[in-house]
Amino acid sequence: MSLRIGEFEFGDGASLAPMAGVTNPPFRQLCAESGAMFSVTELISCHAVLFFSRRPRNRDRKRGQKTLALLDRYPGERPFVVQLYGKEPELMAEAAMVVEQEGADIIDLNFGCPARKVIRAGEGCGVALMRHPPLIGDIARRVVDAVKVPVTAKTRLGYSIDQRNGVEVAKILEGSGVQAVTIHARTREQGHSGPVHLDDLAAIVEAVRIPVIGNGGITCAADARRMREATGCAGVAVGQGAKGNPWIFSEIAGGSGAPDLAGRVATCRRHLALFVAWAGEPLAVVEMRKHACWYLKGFDGAAAFRKRLGEAVDLAAFTGLLDTIPLS
Ligand SMILES: Cc1cc2nc3c(=O)[nH]c(=O)nc-3n(C[C@H](O)[C@H](O)[C@H](O)COP(=O)(O)O)c2cc1C
Repeated sequence: MSLRIGEFEFGDGASLAPMAGVTNPPFRQLCAESGAMFSVTELISCHAVLFFSRRPRNRDRKRGQKTLALLDRYPGERPFVVQLYGKEPELMAEAAMVVEQEGADIIDLNFGCPARKVIRAGEGCGVALMRHPPLIGDIARRVVDAVKVPVTAKTRLGYSIDQRNGVEVAKILEGSGVQAVTIHARTREQGHSGPVHLDDLAAIVEAVRIPVIGNGGITCAADARRMREATGCAGVAVGQGAKGNPWIFSEIAGGSGAPDLAGRVATCRRHLALFVAWAGEPLAVVEMRKHACWYLKGFDGAAAFRKRLGEAVDLAAFTGLLDTIPLS
Protein backbone atom coordinates (compact mmCIF):
# COMPACT_ATOMS: atom_id res chain seq x y z
CA MET A 1 0.00 0.00 0.00
CA SER A 2 1.41 3.42 -0.92
CA LEU A 3 1.33 6.25 1.53
CA ARG A 4 -1.24 8.91 0.79
CA ILE A 5 -2.61 11.35 3.35
CA GLY A 6 -5.26 13.65 1.95
CA GLU A 7 -3.80 15.47 -1.06
CA PHE A 8 -0.26 14.43 -0.12
CA GLU A 9 1.27 11.48 -1.91
CA PHE A 10 4.55 10.19 -0.53
CA GLY A 11 7.16 7.89 -2.01
CA ASP A 12 9.14 5.10 -0.42
CA GLY A 13 11.15 7.20 1.99
CA ALA A 14 10.74 7.79 5.69
CA SER A 15 9.22 10.54 7.78
CA LEU A 16 10.74 12.21 10.82
CA ALA A 17 8.88 11.08 13.96
CA PRO A 18 7.93 13.79 16.44
CA MET A 19 10.45 14.34 19.22
CA ALA A 20 9.96 16.95 21.94
CA GLY A 21 12.94 19.30 22.07
CA VAL A 22 14.32 18.00 18.78
CA THR A 23 11.90 18.26 15.84
CA ASN A 24 11.75 22.04 15.66
CA PRO A 25 11.90 24.00 12.38
CA PRO A 26 15.71 24.03 11.88
CA PHE A 27 16.00 20.26 12.33
CA ARG A 28 12.89 19.56 10.28
CA GLN A 29 14.38 21.67 7.47
CA LEU A 30 17.64 19.69 7.48
CA CYS A 31 15.73 16.40 7.46
CA ALA A 32 13.53 17.57 4.58
CA GLU A 33 16.62 18.58 2.61
CA SER A 34 17.93 15.06 3.18
CA GLY A 35 14.74 13.51 1.83
CA ALA A 36 12.38 13.08 4.79
CA MET A 37 8.87 12.66 3.34
CA PHE A 38 7.52 14.95 6.05
CA SER A 39 8.20 15.78 9.66
CA VAL A 40 5.98 16.20 12.69
CA THR A 41 6.23 18.94 15.31
CA GLU A 42 6.73 17.91 18.89
CA LEU A 43 3.54 17.25 20.82
CA ILE A 44 1.60 20.39 21.79
CA SER A 45 -1.01 20.49 24.55
CA CYS A 46 -4.51 21.49 23.49
CA HIS A 47 -4.69 23.59 26.65
CA ALA A 48 -1.57 25.50 25.61
CA VAL A 49 -3.10 26.21 22.19
CA LEU A 50 -6.35 27.40 23.75
CA PHE A 51 -4.45 29.60 26.21
CA PHE A 52 -3.51 32.04 23.48
CA SER A 53 -6.40 31.49 21.14
CA ARG A 54 -9.19 32.24 23.58
CA ARG A 55 -7.54 35.47 24.78
CA PRO A 56 -5.53 37.13 22.02
CA ARG A 57 -3.50 39.12 24.55
CA ASN A 58 -2.08 35.82 25.84
CA ARG A 59 -0.18 35.59 22.57
CA ASP A 60 2.26 38.12 24.03
CA ARG A 61 2.69 36.29 27.32
CA LYS A 62 5.64 33.96 27.81
CA ARG A 63 3.52 30.80 27.69
CA GLY A 64 1.67 31.99 24.59
CA GLN A 65 4.95 32.82 22.85
CA LYS A 66 6.37 29.41 23.72
CA THR A 67 3.39 27.60 22.21
CA LEU A 68 3.37 29.83 19.15
CA ALA A 69 7.04 29.00 18.56
CA LEU A 70 6.04 25.33 18.44
CA LEU A 71 3.74 26.26 15.56
CA ASP A 72 6.51 27.86 13.51
CA ARG A 73 7.37 26.42 10.11
CA TYR A 74 10.63 26.55 8.26
CA PRO A 75 10.29 28.49 4.99
CA GLY A 76 8.24 26.49 2.51
CA GLU A 77 7.45 23.60 4.88
CA ARG A 78 4.64 21.55 3.39
CA PRO A 79 2.95 19.50 4.56
CA PHE A 80 3.18 21.17 7.94
CA VAL A 81 2.19 18.41 10.38
CA VAL A 82 1.28 19.49 13.90
CA GLN A 83 0.86 17.04 16.74
CA LEU A 84 -1.70 17.75 19.47
CA TYR A 85 -2.37 15.98 22.72
CA GLY A 86 -5.16 16.17 25.26
CA LYS A 87 -8.02 14.09 26.56
CA GLU A 88 -11.11 16.32 26.35
CA PRO A 89 -12.76 15.78 22.95
CA GLU A 90 -14.25 19.31 22.77
CA LEU A 91 -11.00 21.00 23.71
CA MET A 92 -9.04 18.89 21.25
CA ALA A 93 -11.52 19.81 18.50
CA GLU A 94 -11.29 23.50 19.38
CA ALA A 95 -7.47 23.39 19.48
CA ALA A 96 -7.41 21.54 16.16
CA MET A 97 -9.41 24.34 14.54
CA VAL A 98 -6.93 26.91 15.88
CA VAL A 99 -3.97 24.89 14.64
CA GLU A 100 -5.61 24.52 11.23
CA GLN A 101 -6.04 28.29 11.12
CA GLU A 102 -2.37 28.71 12.05
CA GLY A 103 -1.45 26.77 8.90
CA ALA A 104 -1.37 23.05 9.71
CA ASP A 105 -1.80 20.87 6.61
CA ILE A 106 -2.22 17.68 8.67
CA ILE A 107 -3.11 17.30 12.36
CA ASP A 108 -1.63 14.34 14.21
CA LEU A 109 -3.12 13.17 17.52
CA ASN A 110 -0.84 11.79 20.19
CA PHE A 111 -1.99 8.60 21.89
CA GLY A 112 1.47 7.21 22.55
CA CYS A 113 3.53 9.54 24.75
CA PRO A 114 4.68 7.88 27.99
CA ALA A 115 6.18 11.03 29.62
CA ARG A 116 5.06 11.42 33.22
CA LYS A 117 3.90 15.01 32.75
CA VAL A 118 1.60 13.81 29.93
CA ILE A 119 0.19 10.60 31.40
CA ARG A 120 0.20 11.31 35.15
CA ALA A 121 -3.04 11.26 37.15
CA GLY A 122 -5.12 14.28 36.32
CA GLU A 123 -3.58 14.55 32.88
CA GLY A 124 -4.24 11.01 31.65
CA CYS A 125 -3.18 11.92 28.12
CA GLY A 126 -0.84 10.34 25.58
CA VAL A 127 -0.44 6.59 25.95
CA ALA A 128 -2.65 6.59 29.08
CA LEU A 129 -5.59 6.91 26.68
CA MET A 130 -4.84 3.44 25.32
CA ARG A 131 -6.57 2.23 28.48
CA HIS A 132 -9.72 4.04 27.30
CA PRO A 133 -10.16 3.16 23.63
CA PRO A 134 -13.70 4.60 23.36
CA LEU A 135 -12.37 7.99 24.51
CA ILE A 136 -9.69 7.81 21.82
CA GLY A 137 -12.52 7.27 19.35
CA ASP A 138 -14.46 10.27 20.70
CA ILE A 139 -11.44 12.55 20.54
CA ALA A 140 -10.54 11.49 17.02
CA ARG A 141 -14.10 11.80 15.70
CA ARG A 142 -14.59 15.26 17.20
CA VAL A 143 -11.31 16.48 15.72
CA VAL A 144 -12.01 14.93 12.30
CA ASP A 145 -15.43 16.62 12.25
CA ALA A 146 -14.00 19.98 13.33
CA VAL A 147 -11.34 20.49 10.65
CA LYS A 148 -11.00 20.25 6.88
CA VAL A 149 -7.39 19.05 6.88
CA PRO A 150 -6.57 15.33 7.23
CA VAL A 151 -6.22 13.97 10.75
CA THR A 152 -3.73 11.22 11.61
CA ALA A 153 -2.79 9.61 14.92
CA LYS A 154 0.24 8.09 16.58
CA THR A 155 0.00 5.32 19.11
CA ARG A 156 1.73 2.16 20.33
CA LEU A 157 1.21 -1.58 20.52
CA GLY A 158 -0.39 -1.20 23.91
CA TYR A 159 0.08 -0.09 27.47
CA SER A 160 2.12 -3.15 28.46
CA ILE A 161 3.11 -6.49 26.98
CA ASP A 162 -0.02 -8.03 28.57
CA GLN A 163 -2.29 -5.23 27.36
CA ARG A 164 -1.53 -5.06 23.65
CA ASN A 165 -4.69 -3.51 22.24
CA GLY A 166 -3.03 -1.78 19.30
CA VAL A 167 -5.31 -3.57 16.82
CA GLU A 168 -8.45 -2.45 18.67
CA VAL A 169 -7.19 1.15 18.94
CA ALA A 170 -6.15 1.31 15.28
CA LYS A 171 -9.58 0.04 14.20
CA ILE A 172 -11.29 2.63 16.38
CA LEU A 173 -9.11 5.35 14.86
CA GLU A 174 -9.95 4.16 11.36
CA GLY A 175 -13.64 4.12 12.21
CA SER A 176 -13.35 7.69 13.50
CA GLY A 177 -12.13 9.02 10.17
CA VAL A 178 -8.42 9.21 10.88
CA GLN A 179 -6.56 8.91 7.54
CA ALA A 180 -3.34 7.22 8.67
CA VAL A 181 -1.83 5.86 11.87
CA THR A 182 1.76 5.77 12.99
CA ILE A 183 2.43 2.79 15.24
CA HIS A 184 5.43 2.86 17.53
CA ALA A 185 6.06 -0.88 17.67
CA ARG A 186 6.80 -0.90 21.38
CA THR A 187 4.60 -0.84 24.49
CA ARG A 188 4.41 1.97 27.02
CA GLU A 189 6.51 -0.13 29.42
CA GLN A 190 9.38 -0.08 26.94
CA GLY A 191 9.55 3.70 26.68
CA HIS A 192 11.66 4.63 23.66
CA SER A 193 14.10 1.71 23.61
CA GLY A 194 14.28 -2.06 23.47
CA PRO A 195 13.17 -4.49 20.82
CA VAL A 196 10.37 -3.63 18.42
CA HIS A 197 7.63 -6.18 17.90
CA LEU A 198 7.18 -6.51 14.17
CA ASP A 199 4.59 -9.31 14.43
CA ASP A 200 2.28 -7.05 16.40
CA LEU A 201 2.85 -4.23 13.94
CA ALA A 202 2.03 -6.60 11.07
CA ALA A 203 -1.24 -7.58 12.80
CA ILE A 204 -2.25 -3.91 12.95
CA VAL A 205 -1.35 -3.37 9.27
CA GLU A 206 -3.49 -6.40 8.44
CA ALA A 207 -6.44 -5.21 10.54
CA VAL A 208 -7.02 -1.76 8.99
CA ARG A 209 -7.38 -0.35 5.49
CA ILE A 210 -5.86 3.08 6.24
CA PRO A 211 -2.08 3.41 5.76
CA VAL A 212 0.02 2.39 8.73
CA ILE A 213 3.39 4.06 9.26
CA GLY A 214 5.71 1.80 11.23
CA ASN A 215 8.05 3.29 13.80
CA GLY A 216 10.68 2.10 16.23
CA GLY A 217 14.34 1.16 16.19
CA ILE A 218 15.22 2.27 12.65
CA THR A 219 18.85 3.38 12.52
CA CYS A 220 19.75 2.53 8.91
CA ALA A 221 18.21 1.72 5.53
CA ALA A 222 18.32 -2.03 6.25
CA ASP A 223 16.20 -1.54 9.39
CA ALA A 224 13.62 0.39 7.37
CA ARG A 225 13.54 -2.30 4.70
CA ARG A 226 13.17 -5.03 7.31
CA MET A 227 10.22 -3.28 8.93
CA ARG A 228 8.47 -2.75 5.59
CA GLU A 229 9.06 -6.32 4.45
CA ALA A 230 8.07 -7.93 7.73
CA THR A 231 4.90 -5.91 8.24
CA GLY A 232 3.69 -4.53 4.91
CA CYS A 233 3.47 -1.05 6.45
CA ALA A 234 2.88 1.81 3.99
CA GLY A 235 5.70 3.96 5.36
CA VAL A 236 8.22 4.21 8.16
CA ALA A 237 9.04 6.96 10.63
CA VAL A 238 12.48 7.52 12.14
CA GLY A 239 12.98 9.09 15.55
CA GLN A 240 16.23 8.75 17.46
CA GLY A 241 18.03 7.36 14.41
CA ALA A 242 17.82 10.84 12.89
CA LYS A 243 19.49 12.63 15.80
CA GLY A 244 22.80 13.89 14.44
CA ASN A 245 22.02 11.94 11.28
CA PRO A 246 19.52 13.69 8.98
CA TRP A 247 21.21 11.75 6.15
CA ILE A 248 19.36 8.64 7.27
CA PHE A 249 16.47 9.87 5.12
CA SER A 250 18.53 9.97 1.92
CA GLU A 251 20.04 6.60 2.84
CA ILE A 252 16.55 5.05 3.24
CA ALA A 253 15.46 6.62 -0.07
CA GLY A 254 18.40 4.90 -1.81
CA GLY A 255 20.90 7.78 -1.72
CA SER A 256 24.03 8.41 0.31
CA GLY A 257 24.31 8.21 4.07
CA ALA A 258 26.26 10.30 6.57
CA PRO A 259 29.23 12.21 5.12
CA ASP A 260 32.76 12.34 6.50
CA LEU A 261 33.67 14.43 9.53
CA ALA A 262 34.09 17.63 7.47
CA GLY A 263 30.57 17.17 6.07
CA ARG A 264 29.15 16.59 9.52
CA VAL A 265 30.89 19.70 10.91
CA ALA A 266 29.52 21.72 7.98
CA THR A 267 25.99 20.52 8.69
CA CYS A 268 26.40 21.25 12.39
CA ARG A 269 27.42 24.83 11.47
CA ARG A 270 24.43 25.18 9.17
CA HIS A 271 22.11 23.77 11.85
CA LEU A 272 23.52 26.33 14.29
CA ALA A 273 22.95 29.17 11.81
CA LEU A 274 19.37 28.05 11.13
CA PHE A 275 18.74 27.79 14.88
CA VAL A 276 20.10 31.28 15.54
CA ALA A 277 17.92 32.67 12.75
CA TRP A 278 14.87 30.93 14.19
CA ALA A 279 15.26 31.34 17.95
CA GLY A 280 18.10 33.79 18.56
CA GLU A 281 21.65 33.23 19.78
CA PRO A 282 21.19 32.40 23.50
CA LEU A 283 18.70 29.58 22.97
CA ALA A 284 20.46 28.33 19.84
CA VAL A 285 23.78 27.99 21.64
CA VAL A 286 22.26 26.01 24.51
CA GLU A 287 20.09 23.77 22.34
CA MET A 288 22.78 23.11 19.74
CA ARG A 289 25.13 21.58 22.32
CA LYS A 290 23.22 18.30 22.26
CA HIS A 291 22.98 18.32 18.45
CA ALA A 292 26.74 18.91 18.18
CA CYS A 293 27.33 15.92 20.49
CA TRP A 294 25.16 13.78 18.19
CA TYR A 295 26.84 14.99 14.97
CA LEU A 296 30.41 14.94 16.09
CA LYS A 297 31.61 11.55 17.25
CA GLY A 298 34.42 9.24 16.30
CA PHE A 299 37.45 11.50 15.88
CA ASP A 300 40.59 11.96 17.94
CA GLY A 301 39.67 14.14 20.89
CA ALA A 302 35.88 13.77 20.36
CA ALA A 303 35.18 13.08 24.03
CA ALA A 304 37.16 16.17 25.12
CA PHE A 305 35.43 18.23 22.43
CA ARG A 306 32.00 17.20 23.70
CA LYS A 307 32.99 18.03 27.28
CA ARG A 308 34.07 21.52 26.19
CA LEU A 309 30.70 22.19 24.54
CA GLY A 310 29.43 23.25 27.98
CA GLU A 311 31.88 26.17 27.80
CA ALA A 312 30.40 27.36 24.51
CA VAL A 313 28.41 30.19 26.03
CA ASP A 314 27.93 32.28 22.89
CA LEU A 315 28.03 31.92 19.14
CA ALA A 316 31.67 32.99 18.82
CA ALA A 317 32.76 30.41 21.41
CA PHE A 318 30.65 27.71 19.76
CA THR A 319 31.99 28.29 16.25
CA GLY A 320 35.52 28.70 17.68
CA LEU A 321 35.19 25.26 19.24
CA LEU A 322 34.00 23.78 15.93
CA ASP A 323 37.14 25.29 14.34
CA THR A 324 39.32 23.14 16.64
CA ILE A 325 38.06 19.86 15.16
CA PRO A 326 40.89 18.23 13.18
CA LEU A 327 39.60 17.82 9.63
CA SER A 328 42.64 16.53 7.79
C1 LIG B 1 13.35 12.80 23.13
C2 LIG B 1 12.11 12.20 22.54
C3 LIG B 1 10.97 12.97 22.41
C4 LIG B 1 9.81 12.42 21.86
N1 LIG B 1 8.71 13.21 21.71
C5 LIG B 1 7.59 12.72 21.11
C6 LIG B 1 6.48 13.56 20.82
O1 LIG B 1 6.48 14.77 21.09
N2 LIG B 1 5.40 12.98 20.23
C7 LIG B 1 5.37 11.64 19.89
O2 LIG B 1 4.37 11.16 19.36
N3 LIG B 1 6.42 10.84 20.13
C8 LIG B 1 7.53 11.36 20.70
N4 LIG B 1 8.62 10.55 20.88
C9 LIG B 1 8.60 9.17 20.36
C10 LIG B 1 9.17 9.11 18.94
O3 LIG B 1 8.35 9.79 18.04
C11 LIG B 1 9.29 7.66 18.48
O4 LIG B 1 8.02 7.07 18.50
C12 LIG B 1 10.21 6.84 19.37
O5 LIG B 1 11.42 7.51 19.65
C13 LIG B 1 10.51 5.48 18.71
O6 LIG B 1 11.12 5.66 17.46
P1 LIG B 1 12.72 5.46 17.30
O7 LIG B 1 13.06 4.12 17.87
O8 LIG B 1 12.96 5.62 15.84
O9 LIG B 1 13.34 6.56 18.12
C14 LIG B 1 9.78 11.07 21.44
C15 LIG B 1 10.94 10.30 21.58
C16 LIG B 1 12.09 10.84 22.11
C17 LIG B 1 13.32 9.98 22.23
